[in-house]
Amino acid sequence: MIEYSNIAKYYDQWSSGDKYWNVTKDFYVAESKHYEGPIVELGIGTARITTEILKKYSIDIIGVDRCKEMLEESRRRIAKEGLLDKLTLLHQDFVHLQLPYKSKYIFMPFRTFGHLPCIQTRKKALTSIYNNLCEGGVFIFDHYILDEEWAKSANNRRIKMYESDDILIEDLYTFDFNNKKLHCSVFKNNTLLESFDFYWFQPSEIMQIIKDVGFKVKALYGDFHRNQLTKDSYNQIWVLER
Ligand SMILES: C[S@@+](CC[C@H](N)C(=O)[O-])C[C@H]1O[C@@H](n2cnc3c(N)ncnc32)[C@H](O)[C@@H]1O
Repeated sequence: MIEYSNIAKYYDQWSSGDKYWNVTKDFYVAESKHYEGPIVELGIGTARITTEILKKYSIDIIGVDRCKEMLEESRRRIAKEGLLDKLTLLHQDFVHLQLPYKSKYIFMPFRTFGHLPCIQTRKKALTSIYNNLCEGGVFIFDHYILDEEWAKSANNRRIKMYESDDILIEDLYTFDFNNKKLHCSVFKNNTLLESFDFYWFQPSEIMQIIKDVGFKVKALYGDFHRNQLTKDSYNQIWVLER
């Protein structure tokens, strides 16, 4: 069973408990206005961002995900809006991305990059993204910068992500600080629904790979309001150019 299969139906409820949920969406919707389609969302999930882009700008979008259940949620959501003619869904692992043609803009929202476990895999993913971009094409992705104080206080205790009359969704994080890895378990009404590993890194660790692959850094923001990264930033938002 691939990660996210079990949580696909509850993904929006679960993730909307995250304080960066809306601001991430607003950022990527606004960014997409600069580019001609087809543009590409890697790790499209339930298409919550792509749907807003399609409604606002009506450009063609290719959505990539390796989880069939998430792609199904995407298809359902876009169909409801009557926008399926603008969307192509590809069932692929973006580490080995193969688009039907090169794109001017590829984006990977909401820390999806954190699913890549090690330098080698991150480099492979960045290389295949680079190879699928037109000359001058742009790739944007974001990740958090771990707030260690918060992580220590959150370690190994349940955190409520969503609650309604009949659904309670909680996360439990187990941090491995030495290996910059966390194990996330998601519980629905006290039953384990999904669990996966997730990874973090400092901007300096990813900078070298970005350069090795051949990308130019157009911007590096420390938040979704496009302020420059500082030592106090909690996010790293990379705008890269081929
Ligand atoms: C954190 S969710 C983000 C979903 C969506 N972009 C959003 O902003 O809500 C990560 C998504 O990326 C997908 N994903 C993770 N690793 C992937 C990979 N190597 N190839 C393709 N999809 C991947 C997962 O299946 C999931 O749908």
